[in-house]
Amino acid sequence: MSDDVPFMVRSRGSVAGYPVSRQRRLRRTPALRRLVAETRLSVDDLVAPLFVADGLDEPRPVPSLPGVVQHTVDSVTAEVKRLGALGVPAVILFGLPRPEHKDATGSRALRPDGITQQALASARHAVGDTVVLMADCCLDEFTDHGHCGVVDPSTGEVDNDATLPLYAELALSQAIAGADVIAPSGMMDGQVGSIRAALDGAGFQGTAILAYAAKYASALYGPFRDAAQVTIADGGDRKGYQQDSRNRREAMAEVALDVGEGADMVMVKPALTYLDVIADVRGAFDVPVGAYHVSGEYAMVKAAAERGWIDGPAVALEQLTAVKRAGADFILTYFAGEVAEALGG
Ligand code: PBG
Repeated sequence: MSDDVPFMVRSRGSVAGYPVSRQRRLRRTPALRRLVAETRLSVDDLVAPLFVADGLDEPRPVPSLPGVVQHTVDSVTAEVKRLGALGVPAVILFGLPRPEHKDATGSRALRPDGITQQALASARHAVGDTVVLMADCCLDEFTDHGHCGVVDPSTGEVDNDATLPLYAELALSQAIAGADVIAPSGMMDGQVGSIRAALDGAGFQGTAILAYAAKYASALYGPFRDAAQVTIADGGDRKGYQQDSRNRREAMAEVALDVGEGADMVMVKPALTYLDVIADVRGAFDVPVGAYHVSGEYAMVKAAAERGWIDGPAVALEQLTAVKRAGADFILTYFAGEVAEALGG
Protein backbone atom coordinates (compact mmCIF):
# COMPACT_ATOMS: atom_id res chain seq x y z
CA MET A 1 0.00 0.00 0.00
CA SER A 2 1.67 3.22 -1.05
CA ASP A 3 1.78 6.30 1.15
CA ASP A 4 -0.06 8.54 -1.28
CA VAL A 5 -3.33 6.62 -1.49
CA PRO A 6 -5.61 9.32 -0.10
CA PHE A 7 -8.23 7.41 1.84
CA MET A 8 -6.20 4.54 3.21
CA VAL A 9 -4.10 4.65 6.33
CA ARG A 10 -1.59 2.31 7.83
CA SER A 11 -1.28 3.84 11.27
CA ARG A 12 -2.42 2.86 14.75
CA GLY A 13 -0.83 -0.52 14.85
CA SER A 14 -3.14 -2.33 12.54
CA VAL A 15 -2.16 -4.42 9.63
CA ALA A 16 -1.67 -2.31 6.57
CA GLY A 17 -4.29 -1.33 4.14
CA TYR A 18 -7.74 -1.22 5.68
CA PRO A 19 -9.81 1.74 4.55
CA VAL A 20 -10.52 4.59 6.95
CA SER A 21 -13.05 7.20 6.05
CA ARG A 22 -12.25 10.88 6.11
CA GLN A 23 -14.90 11.26 8.80
CA ARG A 24 -13.11 8.79 11.06
CA ARG A 25 -9.78 10.49 10.51
CA LEU A 26 -11.21 13.85 11.51
CA ARG A 27 -12.74 12.36 14.66
CA ARG A 28 -9.44 11.01 15.99
CA THR A 29 -8.62 13.60 18.69
CA PRO A 30 -10.62 16.12 20.70
CA ALA A 31 -8.73 18.96 19.02
CA LEU A 32 -9.55 17.66 15.53
CA ARG A 33 -13.20 17.27 16.49
CA ARG A 34 -13.23 20.79 17.84
CA LEU A 35 -11.65 22.14 14.66
CA VAL A 36 -14.19 20.59 12.30
CA ALA A 37 -17.35 20.93 14.44
CA GLU A 38 -20.22 22.24 12.31
CA THR A 39 -22.25 23.53 15.25
CA ARG A 40 -20.93 25.53 18.15
CA LEU A 41 -23.01 26.18 21.22
CA SER A 42 -21.86 29.34 22.91
CA VAL A 43 -22.94 31.44 25.82
CA ASP A 44 -23.96 34.02 23.20
CA ASP A 45 -26.83 31.72 22.15
CA LEU A 46 -28.57 31.72 25.51
CA VAL A 47 -31.63 33.54 26.76
CA ALA A 48 -32.58 32.86 30.39
CA PRO A 49 -36.28 32.81 31.32
CA LEU A 50 -36.83 34.37 34.76
CA PHE A 51 -39.95 34.53 36.92
CA VAL A 52 -40.64 37.45 39.21
CA ALA A 53 -43.59 37.27 41.59
CA ASP A 54 -45.45 40.00 43.43
CA GLY A 55 -45.73 39.69 47.20
CA LEU A 56 -42.75 37.42 47.93
CA ASP A 57 -40.34 38.15 50.77
CA GLU A 58 -37.73 35.84 49.36
CA PRO A 59 -37.24 33.68 46.26
CA ARG A 60 -39.41 30.58 46.20
CA PRO A 61 -38.23 27.38 44.48
CA VAL A 62 -40.42 25.80 41.80
CA PRO A 63 -40.56 22.06 42.65
CA SER A 64 -41.15 20.86 39.08
CA LEU A 65 -38.26 23.00 37.77
CA PRO A 66 -35.27 22.18 39.99
CA GLY A 67 -32.90 25.15 40.11
CA VAL A 68 -35.59 27.62 38.98
CA VAL A 69 -37.23 30.03 41.42
CA GLN A 70 -39.92 32.65 41.53
CA HIS A 71 -37.88 35.77 42.20
CA THR A 72 -38.48 38.96 44.11
CA VAL A 73 -37.65 42.19 42.28
CA ASP A 74 -34.35 42.37 44.19
CA SER A 75 -33.36 38.77 43.55
CA VAL A 76 -34.28 38.90 39.87
CA THR A 77 -32.16 42.01 39.52
CA ALA A 78 -29.23 40.22 41.13
CA GLU A 79 -29.79 37.22 38.86
CA VAL A 80 -29.78 39.37 35.72
CA LYS A 81 -26.47 40.85 36.89
CA ARG A 82 -25.02 37.41 37.62
CA LEU A 83 -26.09 36.06 34.22
CA GLY A 84 -24.70 39.14 32.51
CA ALA A 85 -21.36 38.60 34.25
CA LEU A 86 -21.37 35.01 32.97
CA GLY A 87 -21.78 36.38 29.45
CA VAL A 88 -25.45 35.49 28.92
CA PRO A 89 -26.64 38.16 26.46
CA ALA A 90 -30.37 38.15 27.24
CA VAL A 91 -33.10 37.27 29.71
CA ILE A 92 -36.87 37.05 29.29
CA LEU A 93 -39.00 38.14 32.23
CA PHE A 94 -42.33 36.66 33.29
CA GLY A 95 -44.21 38.65 35.90
CA LEU A 96 -46.64 36.92 38.25
CA PRO A 97 -49.31 38.78 40.20
CA ARG A 98 -50.54 37.90 43.67
CA PRO A 99 -53.26 35.27 43.15
CA GLU A 100 -55.89 37.59 44.59
CA HIS A 101 -55.07 40.20 41.94
CA LYS A 102 -56.08 38.04 38.98
CA ASP A 103 -59.23 39.08 37.14
CA ALA A 104 -61.12 38.36 33.93
CA THR A 105 -59.10 40.75 31.76
CA GLY A 106 -55.70 40.47 33.46
CA SER A 107 -55.87 44.17 34.24
CA ARG A 108 -53.05 43.99 36.77
CA ALA A 109 -50.60 43.18 33.97
CA LEU A 110 -51.02 46.62 32.44
CA ARG A 111 -50.15 48.77 35.43
CA PRO A 112 -47.07 50.94 35.05
CA ASP A 113 -46.07 49.87 38.57
CA GLY A 114 -46.93 46.19 37.95
CA ILE A 115 -44.53 43.43 38.88
CA THR A 116 -43.10 42.94 35.37
CA GLN A 117 -42.65 46.66 34.90
CA GLN A 118 -40.91 47.00 38.29
CA ALA A 119 -38.56 44.14 37.49
CA LEU A 120 -37.74 45.57 34.06
CA ALA A 121 -36.97 48.99 35.50
CA SER A 122 -34.87 47.57 38.31
CA ALA A 123 -32.87 45.25 36.05
CA ARG A 124 -32.37 48.00 33.49
CA HIS A 125 -31.02 50.28 36.18
CA ALA A 126 -28.65 47.55 37.40
CA VAL A 127 -27.20 46.38 34.09
CA GLY A 128 -27.70 49.27 31.68
CA ASP A 129 -27.57 48.06 28.11
CA THR A 130 -25.23 45.14 28.83
CA VAL A 131 -28.00 42.54 28.99
CA VAL A 132 -30.94 42.40 26.57
CA LEU A 133 -34.17 42.56 28.55
CA MET A 134 -37.07 40.75 26.91
CA ALA A 135 -40.59 40.90 28.29
CA ASP A 136 -43.03 38.07 27.74
CA CYS A 137 -46.19 39.84 26.60
CA CYS A 138 -49.21 37.76 27.54
CA LEU A 139 -52.12 37.80 29.95
CA ASP A 140 -52.47 34.20 31.13
CA GLU A 141 -50.49 34.80 34.32
CA PHE A 142 -52.88 37.64 35.16
CA THR A 143 -56.30 36.29 34.17
CA ASP A 144 -58.42 34.36 36.66
CA HIS A 145 -59.44 31.86 33.94
CA GLY A 146 -55.84 31.28 32.81
CA HIS A 147 -56.40 32.04 29.12
CA CYS A 148 -54.00 34.21 27.16
CA GLY A 149 -56.66 36.78 26.35
CA VAL A 150 -60.12 37.91 27.35
CA VAL A 151 -62.87 35.34 27.09
CA ASP A 152 -66.11 36.08 25.25
CA PRO A 153 -68.81 35.11 27.75
CA SER A 154 -71.29 34.16 25.04
CA THR A 155 -68.97 31.56 23.46
CA GLY A 156 -66.57 30.80 26.29
CA GLU A 157 -63.75 31.26 23.78
CA VAL A 158 -60.90 33.71 23.71
CA ASP A 159 -61.92 36.92 21.97
CA ASN A 160 -59.00 37.59 19.64
CA ASP A 161 -59.85 41.15 18.66
CA ALA A 162 -60.79 42.28 22.14
CA THR A 163 -57.42 41.03 23.36
CA LEU A 164 -55.30 42.98 20.86
CA PRO A 165 -55.63 46.44 22.46
CA LEU A 166 -54.70 44.93 25.83
CA TYR A 167 -51.54 43.41 24.36
CA ALA A 168 -50.72 46.77 22.76
CA GLU A 169 -51.10 48.56 26.09
CA LEU A 170 -49.14 45.87 27.93
CA ALA A 171 -46.32 46.00 25.39
CA LEU A 172 -46.11 49.76 25.65
CA SER A 173 -45.94 49.65 29.45
CA GLN A 174 -43.13 47.10 29.19
CA ALA A 175 -41.24 49.26 26.70
CA ILE A 176 -41.63 52.29 28.95
CA ALA A 177 -40.34 50.26 31.89
CA GLY A 178 -37.19 49.40 29.94
CA ALA A 179 -37.74 46.31 27.80
CA ASP A 180 -35.50 46.06 24.72
CA VAL A 181 -37.65 43.34 23.21
CA ILE A 182 -41.36 42.61 23.49
CA ALA A 183 -42.20 38.93 23.09
CA PRO A 184 -45.90 38.34 22.47
CA SER A 185 -46.69 34.72 23.35
CA GLY A 186 -50.48 34.63 23.21
CA MET A 187 -50.88 33.51 19.58
CA MET A 188 -53.60 36.07 18.83
CA ASP A 189 -53.97 36.92 15.16
CA GLY A 190 -52.72 40.44 14.55
CA GLN A 191 -50.82 40.74 17.82
CA VAL A 192 -47.51 41.70 16.24
CA GLY A 193 -49.10 44.38 14.07
CA SER A 194 -51.03 45.97 16.88
CA ILE A 195 -48.02 45.96 19.22
CA ARG A 196 -45.79 47.45 16.50
CA ALA A 197 -48.31 50.22 15.88
CA ALA A 198 -48.63 51.01 19.58
CA LEU A 199 -44.85 51.13 20.07
CA ASP A 200 -44.28 53.29 17.00
CA GLY A 201 -47.13 55.59 17.92
CA ALA A 202 -45.57 56.29 21.30
CA GLY A 203 -42.03 56.86 20.08
CA PHE A 204 -40.70 53.36 20.78
CA GLN A 205 -39.66 52.61 17.20
CA GLY A 206 -36.43 51.16 18.59
CA THR A 207 -38.11 48.50 20.70
CA ALA A 208 -37.91 45.14 18.95
CA ILE A 209 -40.50 42.37 18.71
CA LEU A 210 -39.69 38.69 19.12
CA ALA A 211 -42.83 36.86 18.01
CA TYR A 212 -43.67 33.49 19.48
CA ALA A 213 -44.61 32.75 15.89
CA ALA A 214 -44.82 28.96 15.72
CA LYS A 215 -46.09 28.08 19.16
CA TYR A 216 -47.63 24.67 19.59
CA ALA A 217 -50.34 23.61 22.04
CA SER A 218 -47.87 21.39 23.89
CA ALA A 219 -48.07 19.10 26.89
CA LEU A 220 -44.54 20.25 27.71
CA TYR A 221 -45.64 23.52 29.35
CA GLY A 222 -46.80 21.83 32.57
CA PRO A 223 -43.94 22.88 34.86
CA PHE A 224 -44.14 26.45 33.52
CA ARG A 225 -47.75 26.60 34.60
CA ASP A 226 -46.65 25.50 38.08
CA ALA A 227 -44.01 28.20 38.09
CA ALA A 228 -46.42 30.82 36.79
CA GLN A 229 -49.34 29.60 38.90
CA VAL A 230 -51.56 29.30 35.84
CA THR A 231 -54.50 26.92 35.73
CA ILE A 232 -56.82 27.02 32.75
CA ALA A 233 -60.43 27.14 33.95
CA ASP A 234 -62.75 24.16 33.50
CA GLY A 235 -59.94 21.86 32.39
CA GLY A 236 -59.58 23.96 29.24
CA ASP A 237 -56.66 24.07 26.84
CA ARG A 238 -55.16 26.37 24.24
CA LYS A 239 -55.81 24.24 21.19
CA GLY A 240 -58.07 26.90 19.70
CA TYR A 241 -55.23 29.41 19.41
CA GLN A 242 -51.95 27.50 19.66
CA GLN A 243 -50.78 25.21 16.87
CA ASP A 244 -51.60 21.55 16.42
CA SER A 245 -48.51 19.39 16.92
CA ARG A 246 -49.38 17.36 13.83
CA ASN A 247 -48.84 20.33 11.55
CA ARG A 248 -45.59 21.38 9.96
CA ARG A 249 -46.57 23.53 6.96
CA GLU A 250 -48.91 25.60 9.11
CA ALA A 251 -45.89 26.94 11.00
CA MET A 252 -44.63 28.63 7.84
CA ALA A 253 -47.90 30.47 7.44
CA GLU A 254 -47.80 31.60 11.07
CA VAL A 255 -44.24 32.87 10.73
CA ALA A 256 -45.02 34.63 7.44
CA LEU A 257 -47.91 36.48 9.07
CA ASP A 258 -45.75 37.66 11.98
CA VAL A 259 -42.85 38.72 9.78
CA GLY A 260 -45.31 40.54 7.55
CA GLU A 261 -46.69 42.42 10.54
CA GLY A 262 -43.22 43.54 11.58
CA ALA A 263 -41.72 40.86 13.81
CA ASP A 264 -37.96 41.45 14.08
CA MET A 265 -37.26 37.92 15.27
CA VAL A 266 -39.40 34.81 15.42
CA MET A 267 -39.53 31.84 17.73
CA VAL A 268 -40.41 28.18 17.48
CA LYS A 269 -41.70 26.58 20.67
CA PRO A 270 -41.16 23.96 22.07
CA ALA A 271 -37.74 23.13 20.62
CA LEU A 272 -36.88 19.43 20.52
CA THR A 273 -40.21 18.12 19.36
CA TYR A 274 -40.21 20.71 16.55
CA LEU A 275 -36.67 20.55 15.14
CA ASP A 276 -38.15 20.10 11.66
CA VAL A 277 -40.05 23.35 12.07
CA ILE A 278 -36.92 25.18 13.24
CA ALA A 279 -35.07 23.94 10.15
CA ASP A 280 -37.93 24.98 7.85
CA VAL A 281 -38.19 28.46 9.33
CA ARG A 282 -34.41 28.95 9.21
CA GLY A 283 -34.42 28.04 5.54
CA ALA A 284 -37.31 30.24 4.50
CA PHE A 285 -36.87 33.47 6.48
CA ASP A 286 -33.99 35.84 6.98
CA VAL A 287 -34.92 37.13 10.43
CA PRO A 288 -33.19 35.68 13.51
CA VAL A 289 -34.86 32.49 14.69
CA GLY A 290 -35.12 31.62 18.36
CA ALA A 291 -36.27 28.35 19.87
CA TYR A 292 -37.74 27.85 23.32
CA HIS A 293 -36.44 24.76 25.13
CA VAL A 294 -39.46 24.73 27.39
CA SER A 295 -40.14 23.82 30.97
CA GLY A 296 -41.12 20.20 30.28
CA GLU A 297 -37.98 19.64 28.24
CA TYR A 298 -35.86 20.95 31.11
CA ALA A 299 -37.80 19.09 33.79
CA MET A 300 -37.43 15.73 32.03
CA VAL A 301 -33.65 16.09 31.93
CA LYS A 302 -33.51 17.16 35.57
CA ALA A 303 -35.79 14.37 36.77
CA ALA A 304 -33.94 11.61 34.96
CA ALA A 305 -30.57 13.01 36.07
CA GLU A 306 -31.72 13.14 39.70
CA ARG A 307 -32.43 9.43 39.49
CA GLY A 308 -29.01 8.80 38.04
CA TRP A 309 -30.57 7.54 34.83
CA ILE A 310 -28.83 10.01 32.54
CA ASP A 311 -25.88 12.38 32.71
CA GLY A 312 -27.89 15.61 33.03
CA PRO A 313 -25.28 18.19 31.97
CA ALA A 314 -24.22 16.07 28.98
CA VAL A 315 -27.82 15.60 27.85
CA ALA A 316 -28.50 19.31 28.27
CA LEU A 317 -25.56 20.19 26.02
CA GLU A 318 -26.57 17.56 23.47
CA GLN A 319 -30.14 18.84 23.35
CA LEU A 320 -29.20 22.51 23.05
CA THR A 321 -26.63 21.66 20.38
CA ALA A 322 -29.35 19.83 18.44
CA VAL A 323 -31.54 22.92 18.57
CA LYS A 324 -28.71 25.00 17.14
CA ARG A 325 -27.90 22.35 14.54
CA ALA A 326 -31.50 22.51 13.37
CA GLY A 327 -30.99 26.21 12.71
CA ALA A 328 -31.85 28.25 15.79
CA ASP A 329 -29.84 31.44 16.25
CA PHE A 330 -30.59 31.56 19.97
CA ILE A 331 -32.28 29.40 22.59
CA LEU A 332 -34.49 30.32 25.50
CA THR A 333 -33.57 27.77 28.13
CA TYR A 334 -33.76 27.24 31.88
CA PHE A 335 -30.26 25.74 31.49
CA ALA A 336 -28.83 29.15 30.52
CA GLY A 337 -27.01 29.84 33.80
CA GLU A 338 -25.74 26.30 34.20
CA VAL A 339 -24.55 26.04 30.62
CA ALA A 340 -22.90 29.47 30.77
CA GLU A 341 -20.96 28.28 33.81
CA ALA A 342 -20.03 25.01 32.10
CA LEU A 343 -18.87 26.81 28.94
CA GLY A 344 -16.71 29.03 31.11
CA GLY A 345 -18.54 32.18 30.11
C1 PBG B 1 -47.71 31.99 27.86
C2 PBG B 1 -46.47 31.19 27.89
C3 PBG B 1 -46.34 29.84 28.19
C4 PBG B 1 -44.99 29.53 28.13
C5 PBG B 1 -44.32 30.70 27.80
N1 PBG B 1 -45.25 31.71 27.63
C6 PBG B 1 -47.35 28.85 28.63
C7 PBG B 1 -48.48 28.52 27.76
O1 PBG B 1 -48.59 28.87 26.59
O2 PBG B 1 -49.37 27.87 28.31
C8 PBG B 1 -44.41 28.18 28.39
C9 PBG B 1 -42.94 28.13 28.60
C10 PBG B 1 -42.42 26.87 29.17
O3 PBG B 1 -43.11 25.83 29.26
O4 PBG B 1 -41.25 26.88 29.56
N2 PBG B 1 -47.57 33.17 28.61
